[in-house]
Amino acid sequence: MNAPGRADDTPSQLLALAVAAAREAADLVARGRDGAGEHVGTKSSPVDVVTAVDAASEALLVDRLLGARPDDGVLGEEGASREGTSGVRWVVDPIDGTVNFLYGVPAYAVSVAAEVDGVVRAGVVLDVATGELFTATSGGGAWLTAPGRPELRLAVSGPSSLELTLVATGFGYRAEQRAAQGQVVARLLPRVRDIRRFGSAALDLCAVAAGRVDAYYELGLNPWDHAAGALVAAEAGAVVSGLGGAAPGEPMMIAAAPTVAAEFLDLVEELHR
Ligand code: IPD
Ligand code: CA
Repeated sequence: MNAPGRADDTPSQLLALAVAAAREAADLVARGRDGAGEHVGTKSSPVDVVTAVDAASEALLVDRLLGARPDDGVLGEEGASREGTSGVRWVVDPIDGTVNFLYGVPAYAVSVAAEVDGVVRAGVVLDVATGELFTATSGGGAWLTAPGRPELRLAVSGPSSLELTLVATGFGYRAEQRAAQGQVVARLLPRVRDIRRFGSAALDLCAVAAGRVDAYYELGLNPWDHAAGALVAAEAGAVVSGLGGAAPGEPMMIAAAPTVAAEFLDLVEELHR
């Protein structure tokens, strides 16, 4: 059983801490861009890179989150893993879109989610290059704060058919998995409006939320890739789902505008059989 929750465990209070930590981490990531190529290692495959900035960003996030709430747990892409006792666990991706970060392609983000008793209740995805801040709390909607613009409540698009559906997707880092994912995309492409591959799952999910694409799917994500973005998409009205009754992200993450969600899910399922 979890220890009694703290008085400040409301989603909006958790979000405020997540936003403050993400803003600091995003500043660190932005400052690190010029030297991004200097200390680069690899993880699951030669193309799965990690920079010193990923590690520094994660260390900063963990420091700020657990500094404020020492009884919480944490899970991070670069190895942070700690059981807490408060019932709250932070799921962080210090740079989602590391390959974009390395090359200077402006689509990489800091992602921070707060789970309460295993359910994501607050999430923030901060696009480092554009400064766009996507936030959501469960039941509180999804919001976009962009520099110099008023805060905007996000709502998904409403494509009228699958053939007019703009689809984002991504690919894993193992060659074998990519070969299979490529075959699926080849069969999907003639059935939809077009395909986009932005290179950050967190931003893909926020793109669904903002109506910049109509649907997104990806196989084999990790929790830190989708924890915050999936809440943003869901709170903007997307249908967020796995395949065949599985939970979203386990192992398939799908987010789609409700007008085409059922058809899109069927198609993704058919193509992965
Ligand atoms: C990756 C990105 C990418 C997705 C990969 C992820 P990383 O995360 O989200 O878009 O296709 O599956 O691993 O490595 O840049 O943090
Ligand atoms: Ca990631």
